[in-house]
This record gives sequence, C-alpha cells and structure tokens, in this order.
Amino acid sequence: MQNVLKALHTEHAHICRVLDFLDTQIGLLEKGENPEWDLMKDVMHYMTNFPDIYHHPKEDLVFKRLRERQAGAIPEIDDILHEHGELAEMGQKFRAAINEVEGGSVMSVDDFSKMARGYVDVQRRHVELEERVLFPLARKFLRAEDWTEVDKAIKSQPDPMFGHMVKDEYKLIRSAICD
Ligand SMILES: [Fe+2]
Ligand SMILES: [Fe+2]
Repeated sequence: MQNVLKALHTEHAHICRVLDFLDTQIGLLEKGENPEWDLMKDVMHYMTNFPDIYHHPKEDLVFKRLRERQAGAIPEIDDILHEHGELAEMGQKFRAAINEVEGGSVMSVDDFSKMARGYVDVQRRHVELEERVLFPLARKFLRAEDWTEVDKAIKSQPDPMFGHMVKDEYKLIRSAICD
C-alpha cells in the first residue's frame, strides 16, 4: 500500500539532484562564468514535464485524502497544494528565461539568478516539508483503500530521465548529473 509513498520519495531524491545541478549552474553564472545553458534547458524541460505532470498530481490526491481523513486539521496541506500550482508557473517562467537569454535578451545576471534561486529554494522547502510533515501523516492516517485508489487514479510512470529507459532528449543531462 505504501508503494505510492516510496515512489514519491524516490522522485524527491531525483528532484534534489536536479536542484543541486541548478545550484551549481547558477553559481557559475554568478561568478561570471558560463553555465551549461543547454543542460539547464533540459532539466527544466524535465521538471515541467515529469514532476509537474505526474509527481504533483499524485501528491495532490494523497494530501486531499489525508485532509479528509483528518478533517482539515493540517494547515500545511493547503499551502502545499497551492505551491504545486506556483511551482509549475515558476518552472515555465524559468524555461522562458533560459530561452530569452539564449535569444540574446537583456535580462541581467542578477535578475536571472534571483528568479532561478527563487525556484530552487521554493522546490527545496517544498520537498522538505512534504518529507518531514506530510508523508509521515499520510503513512499514519491513509487506509489501504486510499492507497489503492491513488495508485489506480494515477498510474506510475517510468521516470524519463532517472529511470531504466532514458529518453533521448535527457541522455546528456542524465550523464551530466549521474555519471
Ligand atoms: Fe509536492
Ligand atoms: Fe513532492
């Protein structure tokens, strides 16, 4: 019954590796060096096409069920659900900013770095809160039938970057992050 949580936890570990990679790239930019723009583009493509599409909706189901089981007594749930929408928007802005920079826009290093660090920080706090507060509560209060329903509603998808079958478009970034 807790395979759902296990999968979500593994996905968090992958998201954290992506965030570490982004941190390094933003650091390079702030030092006046050239970050790997193409690879940053790839990771943001991944973030907006895997976690935003499969990870967060699955968590939404888990947390909404937790709220029902706990009669709304967990204030963090609303914040986290709201943040899923925010993170998706921030991710799209991040992608757009990378394209702008590539297209020769006048976006300053400061503005880019502020936007990028904002995204990384919100993601990190978000994952940390889910792991520390919400997953343990879900483990405690969701019933076997809840897990089955969540699992049925959103079937597990193989991770296109960290899974066994790496999609062509993620091969470069996968080896940059994992090798
Ligand atoms: Fe989440
Ligand atoms: Fe999550």
